[in-house]
Amino acid sequence: MNAQEIQGWVDAAVSAFKGASTLDELKSARLSHTGDKSPISGASRSLGSLSPEEKILLGKLVGEAKASIANSLETATRRLEDERDKKMLAEEIVDITLPVRRNHRGGLHPISIIKNDISDFFIEQGYFVEEGPELESGWLNFDALNIPADHPARTMQDTFFIEPLESGMVLRTHTSPVQIRTMLTKQPPIYVICPGRTFRADELDATHSPVFHQVEGLVVDRGITMAHLKGTLDNFARYMFGPDVTTRLRPSFFPFTEPSAEVDVFFNGRWIEWGGCGMVNPRVLQTCGIDTDEFSGFAFGMGLERTLMVRHGITDMHDIVEGDLRFTRQFGVGL
Ligand code: PHE
Repeated sequence: MNAQEIQGWVDAAVSAFKGASTLDELKSARLSHTGDKSPISGASRSLGSLSPEEKILLGKLVGEAKASIANSLETATRRLEDERDKKMLAEEIVDITLPVRRNHRGGLHPISIIKNDISDFFIEQGYFVEEGPELESGWLNFDALNIPADHPARTMQDTFFIEPLESGMVLRTHTSPVQIRTMLTKQPPIYVICPGRTFRADELDATHSPVFHQVEGLVVDRGITMAHLKGTLDNFARYMFGPDVTTRLRPSFFPFTEPSAEVDVFFNGRWIEWGGCGMVNPRVLQTCGIDTDEFSGFAFGMGLERTLMVRHGITDMHDIVEGDLRFTRQFGVGL
């Protein structure tokens, strides 16, 4: 080993590092010029067997050679890493001036939002949500609810009858048949609400729609009185219309409740009709096999469209029915 030979290793290493055009190439150049089997490593190892004078002379040269090889490696590494970073930045560039793609998020219809909202309110109080079919038997929609065969609600004007007429099937005209379904399958205590779609043969106009929604409430338990009904309606009304509203009950008639009442809310300075309610008629409880000596109950039913219209000052039913996004978006997406 001599000075010239050592310089030759350095030159070879430096030119290999300089010539590397990728970090991978540099890695293999590094292994062959600085690895265990490289001449400079061999030289380092053989220093021990030299005479003291040679050791001093060549040791210094080998040390310097190693330093310049390491230096050159570092320079090459930095150069190639810089190149890689620049390339990556160029490839991954984001053009923030490009126009955005406006994908509108889907959202729930306000009727669905209010339905979910009402369900949450009652679920929190321990009620269950029940749903029945929209295509219902006339017996559940009318007879079991003590609505006699000659009741005006049953005539062709109000009810969508399903052909063949002998099938006895109707599109349910209210959510009250779900009361019957619940009482036939569950033992009291019963605390349920039944939100759902209902149908009546009305023309679509500013205040009517042949397809609309109701929410039914039914409680059957020991010692249930009208005071429980009133308290429940007050809470419900405050939840729907704001903490200051009050309700009043006006005597009314429904075949399936006795006594029956219309429930009004005092909202925005006037009394507004909100829905129907009453104590479940004992005949209805008996039809469902519930012992009226032990149990009593109350029920109420409200229109969801009507509730929305009152609460938001909506004056045209068409807005709720048509599903125009400019209308529905005002209620938020309700996800
Ligand atoms: N089902 C009645 C209607 O549609 C409303 C109602 C429900 C009344 C429950 C009393 C009790 O008009």
